[in-house]
Amino acid sequence: SIWSKLVGSGSCLPPRVVSNDDLAADLATRGIETSDQWIVERTGIRQRHIAERGVTTSQLGTEAAKRALADAGVDASEVDLIVVATSTPDFVFPSTACLIQANIGATNAAAFDVQAVCTGFIYALTTADSFIRAGRARCALVIGAEVFSRILDWSDRGTCVLFGDGAGAVVLKASDEPGLLSAKLHSDGSQMKILCAAGNVAYGEVTGDPFLRMEGQAVFKLAVNVLDKVAREVSEEAGISVADIDWLIPHQANVRILNAVARKLDLPSERVVVTVDQHANTSAASVPLALDVARRDGRIKPGQLVMLQGVGGGFTWGAALVRM
Ligand code: ACO
Repeated sequence: SIWSKLVGSGSCLPPRVVSNDDLAADLATRGIETSDQWIVERTGIRQRHIAERGVTTSQLGTEAAKRALADAGVDASEVDLIVVATSTPDFVFPSTACLIQANIGATNAAAFDVQAVCTGFIYALTTADSFIRAGRARCALVIGAEVFSRILDWSDRGTCVLFGDGAGAVVLKASDEPGLLSAKLHSDGSQMKILCAAGNVAYGEVTGDPFLRMEGQAVFKLAVNVLDKVAREVSEEAGISVADIDWLIPHQANVRILNAVARKLDLPSERVVVTVDQHANTSAASVPLALDVARRDGRIKPGQLVMLQGVGGGFTWGAALVRM
């Protein structure tokens, strides 16, 4: 049977680093109080990369895609599918995937976006895997890219300290060797209100609330529960024990969520890839960014088992188990 194999990865962070102290100083000028200590204790976040005004999701995604193709040794003309996960697309349409398709010159590729907020990359990866397994694609570029800084209410300290900008990408190729072993996607739209950006442009006007809003504690509890459950589902489907997972790469929202999930799954914290301290929460970009960091620094090795997990707005959640 046909499998999809992960043959390359790449990522891109905007160059501007904003430390907690920088952010606290900036908020203080507008009478909003926060501190490095509060942010580190509650979230584990120490800094985030923030895109300059005008830098778009497609620009970050294009750079990540180019790096992933170079890593895989794949020419853009070989790519026959591009799936981009984003909740901060450049435009209503065309899709961010089409913009990236043009930028990299992938003239033989179909291109579209999927939107599942912080679970977006897992949705995109599972979609591309399904195309490959069905024989409808042979070489797919899967990208998570976001400029969340542009939908944050910078006067809401409960949310604006949590997010950053960035992009990550992987190349999947059809293979007769097992790669992506199993995956599971979930949704519960009845929980939409605990995490949403419910604004829209209609008839030339902004309607609703364009900023991200979140009930932090509700999200926290739900996230820990569903990440634990879905990891078990996906392992079971692949016939693999959770204890045999070499690396757990959950969506990077909060170090306390990551620790709680590892504890529930009885996985030592050394097997969890953590980048939230450096990148903060980059939504759909967080999982491929963390995967790329850990592949490039030599932690993730060929043959190892990696569990990727997402959870976020919608509410959505999912996981994929990958043999590298
Ligand atoms: N600096 C200082 N004080 C703050 C800040 C801040 N940046 N933000 C909130 N506070 C205050 C609150 O106003 C509150 O003050 P009060 O007691 O006087 O009312 C106090 O800190 C405690 O606020 P809580 O919201 O109860 O703090 P909590 O311990 O729940 O931490 C947090 C908040 C970090 C958001 C936590 O709930 C959390 O991590 N939730 C998970 C949500 C998450 O990670 N979301 C990311 C997006 S979702 C996703 O990607 C899946």
